[in-house]
Amino acid sequence: MKVQAFTCLLMVVIATALNGAVVDAKKPKVIEFYLHEQFVSEPGYPATDLLAASATGNTSTYAFGNLGISEQVVRESASNTSTIIGRAPGTFQPNKEERTFALYKLITLQTQEWNGTLLVFCDWLGLADSNEWTVVGGTGTFRMMRGYAINTKAAGGAGTNSITFKWEVYLY
Ligand SMILES: *[C@@H]1O[C@H](CO)[C@@H](O)[C@H](O)[C@H]1NC(C)=O
Ligand SMILES: *[C@@H]1O[C@H](CO)[C@@H](O)[C@H](O)[C@H]1NC(C)=O
Ligand SMILES: *[C@@H]1O[C@H](CO)[C@@H](O)[C@H](O)[C@H]1NC(C)=O
Repeated sequence: MKVQAFTCLLMVVIATALNGAVVDAKKPKVIEFYLHEQFVSEPGYPATDLLAASATGNTSTYAFGNLGISEQVVRESASNTSTIIGRAPGTFQPNKEERTFALYKLITLQTQEWNGTLLVFCDWLGLADSNEWTVVGGTGTFRMMRGYAINTKAAGGAGTNSITFKWEVYLY
């Protein structure tokens, strides 16, 4: 009788401990930062995008077959004078359908908490309010991390020289 009661209590304790561990493991680390993209150079703000190759001679950003290189500046906030905390080099390729782009970036952050690079990919719809990225890995303080990121437009865009995106990264 005593042994049974003890076993039962032990199982409850183990179940509670396991359940707690699972919940903790699923809780992501969340990082927020801003990508500043400059279409046209301005003093102190060089262009961040470059069309590297045009397969057909059509230099439209949306023309299929083109290849672009970009390197956005990562800042703490949406303000273009806020502290620079990293860089985001990558490439962009216009896809055929729906005006999406195959994008990849190496987001390198250097802050007190984070020092390393995240590798992210997206089938990016330029006209959407937000896009989802997959985080496939990282180096430095991001080593072995995976997850996803959501970007939303924070400032600028059509008819201006720049666009700023808020990034929320969820790492597991
Ligand atoms: C260039 O590509 C864009 C986007 O696909 C297209 O809308 C435009 O008509 C093309 N221009 C020419 C001259 O083919
Ligand atoms: C910086 O931000 C200010 C305020 O939003 C804007 O007026 C200005 O054009 C921006 N400058 C550059 C170079 O993006
Ligand atoms: C960040 O990581 C790099 C490469 O591992 C290292 O050289 C550098 O000292 C690190 N910086 C800080 C502030 O920890």
